[in-house]
Amino acid sequence: MKKTLLALAVAALLSGSAFGQSNRTHVLSSDNSSLVVTTNDGAAAYYQYFGPKIQDKDIAGFFGINSNYTGNTIPAFGLHSYGEKALAVKFPDGNMSLDLAMESLNRHSDDKGELLELTFRDKVYPLVVKQYFRSYKDTDVFSTWMELTNTGKKGSIELLTFASACMPVTRADNWLTQFHGAWGSESWMSEERLPNGQAVLADKAGLRNAFGTNPGFMISIDGQPSENKGEVFGGNLLWSGNYKTKINVDNNSIDVISGINEETSEIALKPGQTFVTPEFAMTYSTEGKGGVSRAFHKWGRKYGMAHGDRLHDILLNSWEGVYMNVNQEVMDQMMGDIAALGGELFVMDDGWFGDKYPRDTDKSSLGDWMVNTRKLPEGIKGLTEAAKKHGIKFGIWIEPEMANTTSELFEKHPDWVLSQGNRPLSQGRGGTQVVLDLCNPAVQDYVFSITDNLLTENPEIAYIKWDCNADIMNYGSPYLPKDEQSEIYVRYHQGLQKVLDRIRAKYPDVAIQLCASGGGRADYGLLPWFDEFWTSDNTDAYQRLFIQWGDSHFYPAVAQASHVSASPNHQTGRVVPIKFRFDVAMSGRLGMEIQPKNMTPEELEFSKRAIAAYKDIRPVVQLGNQYRLISPYDKGAVAALMYVDDNKDHAAVFAYRTDYLHNQQVPKIRLDGVDPDKYYLIRDLTPANPERPSNLDGKIVSGRILRNAGLNVSRSLGRPWTSLALELKAVNP
Ligand code: GLA
Repeated sequence: MKKTLLALAVAALLSGSAFGQSNRTHVLSSDNSSLVVTTNDGAAAYYQYFGPKIQDKDIAGFFGINSNYTGNTIPAFGLHSYGEKALAVKFPDGNMSLDLAMESLNRHSDDKGELLELTFRDKVYPLVVKQYFRSYKDTDVFSTWMELTNTGKKGSIELLTFASACMPVTRADNWLTQFHGAWGSESWMSEERLPNGQAVLADKAGLRNAFGTNPGFMISIDGQPSENKGEVFGGNLLWSGNYKTKINVDNNSIDVISGINEETSEIALKPGQTFVTPEFAMTYSTEGKGGVSRAFHKWGRKYGMAHGDRLHDILLNSWEGVYMNVNQEVMDQMMGDIAALGGELFVMDDGWFGDKYPRDTDKSSLGDWMVNTRKLPEGIKGLTEAAKKHGIKFGIWIEPEMANTTSELFEKHPDWVLSQGNRPLSQGRGGTQVVLDLCNPAVQDYVFSITDNLLTENPEIAYIKWDCNADIMNYGSPYLPKDEQSEIYVRYHQGLQKVLDRIRAKYPDVAIQLCASGGGRADYGLLPWFDEFWTSDNTDAYQRLFIQWGDSHFYPAVAQASHVSASPNHQTGRVVPIKFRFDVAMSGRLGMEIQPKNMTPEELEFSKRAIAAYKDIRPVVQLGNQYRLISPYDKGAVAALMYVDDNKDHAAVFAYRTDYLHNQQVPKIRLDGVDPDKYYLIRDLTPANPERPSNLDGKIVSGRILRNAGLNVSRSLGRPWTSLALELKAVNP
């Protein structure tokens, strides 16, 4: 396919037609990058370039030398049936070929940036395809997606392949960086050279698409990727359901085809109907993987999540502290304790609801969102009053997309859960959990009403933890007609988005955490409605270094909930000092997940100091620019990262001893994020003993030295489970 397109491009260039004519050449630019597409009325459109920024005036003469990018923007099945396709359909008469010709184009700006809209129509059949390209203002992120409309009068068009994007990436010494995992072990990074053939990143879970392989990935152009050097393409599909990204590699080209996973998801487009694919977001960095991450963090905070510009509260969540043993007295005690430590929010987790079936274990009650008055005789009001008394905010856990078969909801509405009617139900967590049928508008209303009732009856609720502890089981919707059963994976998510739109329209300010048994939904498909995600049910500080490292490749620290929990850790049994646990959690959105009553006076005293110190660096960590400095995957026994504000005046540096062998060299930490021409005053934020801070505390050091020679941390990180959290402030020496 490539050779043909290349030949076409060269022929066009020689004949002086489409290529090179500025009215047919469209350059979309961000601060540092450009995407170039060429179009020709009545024909296909072609990618010409995606890379470091170019100006319109650079275009002349450009096409003759750039031969890597000549991919059709919508490779479609039929006339050329070989090779990977972004689009394949079947028309009502059985014809499976597409021949798209560009009919019109429209370019305009809106509050998000610039938008290029190309409209194609099949030359014979009634299918209109709109392809969009967006450059997001003040970020280096671009996106592309499609809208498919059946303009016919009779018969459905079956969508067989309906990707969001088919993007060429320059073929050279390419490496793929991807993130994969499982419950309690999310987001492991793996990095391999791309051989010829096909790499497929895909998910079929239905609801928790980030447990397996995260939809975010990177492809380096010039060899094994590094943090701060080299060209790297980063892509991420903004969809929380099943997805598939194929990276098709041959001798001369790479195509990234990304979209909803079409396997067992046939969509029938009825006359007049339009199907919109999710956006595929991408960036191109000349500053290695770190550049991709910083671009996505900036974009995420501005466009990809709710309230990404807002500082997040320091909270205590009740889960690991008391699990389902919640009651008025214990909640009150925990609220008092987190308030005394300087926290700002308390979140009551699972266990507070169920009347006929009290939620004492995970075997019952999902769906019955009424207060369990045995545990909470004063209702939610009693809790919001207690929060007010302690001067903090109150939040609450729900899992609204689910039911247990042991619940009043299921007794009343057995037809509201995904099921196959004539087969027994497969049941998930607790042996009784089932998934509600969000394809059904009545179920959407019900799911909306759970949040709506809580928030209208208790306007003091400031935070909701929205959980999802199952994948799609019992593939079948009692609501959808038989010819739409194959659309459940997609219709479910469209239904969920409708519910979330309604919640956000009515409650724009409430903070909502996205949780899916931990990090099962660490993706940009749902983050636009959510303030953050629960990074993992694994709160072990050591494993969190890896999980947070992986997630940091696409998701900013403000979105990553990181909680200090008990030692020994409940998931791994590891015993780690309170300082190490705090220093890890402070590199994300700090919180606690512990019964403070069970902590020692020394731990409580330390926690109070650490929380106060976090407040000093919170704007830098949550809203600053991240530099990963030393990877926990390197075998140097130290991991380090830093955050710095846009002016490079204020920074936070974290370093951790990850392994211990006696008398081994501890690597210097080069602070890539500081300004070489500034001087910085260093402060130890979390000394274990405030009388004896790190030897680095109080020193004033030039940024050039910090970048080139680096920090010598051997005295502070001499022992297992030692760590450092430092604040740097630019000063006049
Ligand atoms: C999931 C979440 C946990 C907790 C429990 C409650 O596992 O990830 O944080 O809320 O559910 O049942």
